[in-house]
Amino acid sequence: MGLDHYGSVADKFDYFFKEFHEANIPILIECLDLQPHHIIADIGSGTGIIAEKLYEKCGLTKPIWCVDPSVEMQEKAWKREGTYPVLKTAEEFFSHPEIAHCFDRVISIGAAHHFADPVAVYKSIFHSLRPGGIFIEVTTMDTGYPCFKSAKKVEKAAVEIGIQKRKLIRKLVADPNVRVSEKEYCCPMSLTKSKLYEMYRRRYMSMLHQLNDEQIAEGIRELEDGPLTDVKSHDHISFTQVIHVTKFDLN
Ligand SMILES: C[S@@+](CC[C@H](N)C(=O)[O-])C[C@H]1O[C@@H](n2cnc3c(N)ncnc32)[C@H](O)[C@@H]1O
Repeated sequence: MGLDHYGSVADKFDYFFKEFHEANIPILIECLDLQPHHIIADIGSGTGIIAEKLYEKCGLTKPIWCVDPSVEMQEKAWKREGTYPVLKTAEEFFSHPEIAHCFDRVISIGAAHHFADPVAVYKSIFHSLRPGGIFIEVTTMDTGYPCFKSAKKVEKAAVEIGIQKRKLIRKLVADPNVRVSEKEYCCPMSLTKSKLYEMYRRRYMSMLHQLNDEQIAEGIRELEDGPLTDVKSHDHISFTQVIHVTKFDLN
């Protein structure tokens, strides 16, 4: 389940990820040291919401290159301020010989697990950066909200694969000109029970496609009979999401 997934959730993507996006913006601003003249690329940019927010909040003067292969997600990105959508995968985009030493910042939020050849993509990202450039990769380590057993299992497996993959990639892309640092952010957030159930039912994250309708329905019953019994539909559930940032600083 790849691009089909994003086609099916594009209409509600920003609603489902609202809390995640709100938590991400200050983290990105803290890590990126953005200057108005910076040229920035967002790889796996989705609906372009993050690009638009960075453009507005940091007073950028040039639109952010929003690279994403999903037609439905890019249709949303075209309508935003401060975006320059490019309908391509990361692999296609970076195979272009002109993409060299042209970006001050490259970001990729929750998308690196989709790269077919992550080592090649990371190396081309370094090649695309100007001296002093920064590449930031963001991923969620723990969604934090109440989770039923089968969803937890799928999430834990995906996080573990991500950790191992990042370790391997870091080894394979090791470059004396690139300094790597990592940081985790604990982000308090909340959402209503009805929204959480809708997120599960719509399989808002691609990994949830590993569960069938019956497993999702059973999981929601598990939450209803357990931790969320006394929570009303429109009550807010508070939790802490753990967001992991890998920062690559080019000398
Ligand atoms: C979980 S979404 C994240 C979107 C956005 N970064 C955000 O945080 O809202 C992952 C995005 O990666 C895109 N994607 C999938 N395969 C990709 C690839 N090979 N190269 C670049 N982006 C890809 C999808 O179309 C989707 O929009």
